Amino acid sequence: MLHSAGGPPQDPREPLVAPLDLEANVDDALAVQAVAFGLSDDEIGVRRHIVLRHLKSPGAMALGARTPEGRLVGFVYGMPNDRTQWWSTVVTGPLRAAGFEDWLDNSFVITELHVLPLHQRRGLGRRLITMLTDAAGQPRSLLSAIDTDSPARSLYHRLGYRDLARNVHFPSAPSPYAVMGAWLPLRRS
Ligand SMILES: CC(C)(COP(=O)(O)OP(=O)(O)OC[C@H]1O[C@@H](n2cnc3c(N)ncnc32)[C@H](O)[C@@H]1OP(=O)(O)O)[C@@H](O)C(=O)NCCC(=O)NCCS
Repeated sequence: MLHSAGGPPQDPREPLVAPLDLEANVDDALAVQAVAFGLSDDEIGVRRHIVLRHLKSPGAMALGARTPEGRLVGFVYGMPNDRTQWWSTVVTGPLRAAGFEDWLDNSFVITELHVLPLHQRRGLGRRLITMLTDAAGQPRSLLSAIDTDSPARSLYHRLGYRDLARNVHFPSAPSPYAVMGAWLPLRRS
């Protein structure tokens, strides 16, 4: 269960992290993702369908970070892994080859995490993913990230995620991904 009071006390001028009705706010969330990660208008349309479908999965949860004025500046969402979902079917082979296929069971998958550039490096990304995984009922967490040295990979390593499989190719994605896993709760700094 998600509680908006979770996490450390926040400065009232800083964005507040709280449960997000992602279905109702899908366009604002994709606008954040488009700026933070880079999405074309066509990709936004495709992602919109995918997000709305994901939200029907049992146990799907989302958190948003909003300014005191109510502007969404970051969000995270995820769900318990379901081996029949597309993401899981793509990572199964690489995880099996690396000896980590068992991570597909009893894992909470972080599907998206994005913070607008102006609000990055202030702890929001850490707070979003930590609060979401704290609310998960599973003992461990999985995610994929572009297989390069990036702010996202730095954050995930800092939180205790380690590389389970690398050079994983998702159909239609130009860059290879790393699949990462961490035991919950995530590491506190
Ligand atoms: C990844 C992302 C969500 C991190 O959000 P954030 O709010 O900036 O992260 P935080 O401020 O909580 O950073 C926590 C830690 O992550 C690491 N980190 C974050 N940004 C970093 C950067 N630019 N360079 C190096 N390390 C970084 C640091 O260890 C940092 O701790 P520190 O500030 O105490 O050193 C944000 O950079 C982002 O939205 N990037 C673009 C979209 C994206 O790549 N999403 C992930 C897809 S897999």
